[in-house]
Amino acid sequence: MESSKWEMVELQRNSGNWREVVEEIVRIEKRVFPKHESLSKSFEDEIKKKHTGLLYTRIGDEVAAYLMFSSTSSLCASITKLAVKEKYRRQGHGEELLKAAIEKCKSRNISRVSLHVDPLRIEATNLYKKLGFQVDTLVERYYSSDRDAYRMYLDFD
Ligand SMILES: CC(C)(COP(=O)(O)OP(=O)(O)OC[C@H]1O[C@@H](n2cnc3c(N)ncnc32)[C@H](O)[C@@H]1OP(=O)(O)O)[C@@H](O)C(=O)NCCC(=O)NCCS
Repeated sequence: MESSKWEMVELQRNSGNWREVVEEIVRIEKRVFPKHESLSKSFEDEIKKKHTGLLYTRIGDEVAAYLMFSSTSSLCASITKLAVKEKYRRQGHGEELLKAAIEKCKSRNISRVSLHVDPLRIEATNLYKKLGFQVDTLVERYYSSDRDAYRMYLDFD
């Protein structure tokens, strides 16, 4: 990846562009995820929660990708959202965001990171496996009556 062209940022509540960034992410969220999987309506509420964080990739003045994570306890965290704008896919941004989130968790002494993913999302499932996530179980009807999810996890030694 050409490091001069992009930067990864952790969204801060007090940053001047908070609203603008959140609005841009909500627009991506609406395009990428079907309604029942989209947080677009509640994104603002989610991101304001105390134990939720958001990393995003900026290219110029555009948000290219984002990842939301949440600490479910002092030992566990979950990745609750990951999306890359279509035109920026397959350029390593998804992997970079996920690696950064994993490092963040490690530095906070979290021992397990988990997530849910539709097994039909081959790109995402491959990415999670590439970074060491394992399938824990299949949760039937997790997203909707006809969409299941793998629950996946990554443990740190
Ligand atoms: C999944 C997603 C975030 C991947 O982001 P990305 O920036 O395109 O992925 P990267 O370029 O970082 O690729 C990293 C790895 O992901 C996997 N991957 C990504 N795109 C893939 C594709 N089209 N086919 C197969 N594997 C793919 C590969 O393992 C790849 O590693 P490799 O390049 O060594 O083969 C992106 O496709 C996306 O936003 N999809 C729609 C939303 C989604 O499914 N989110 C996850 C919900 S749980």
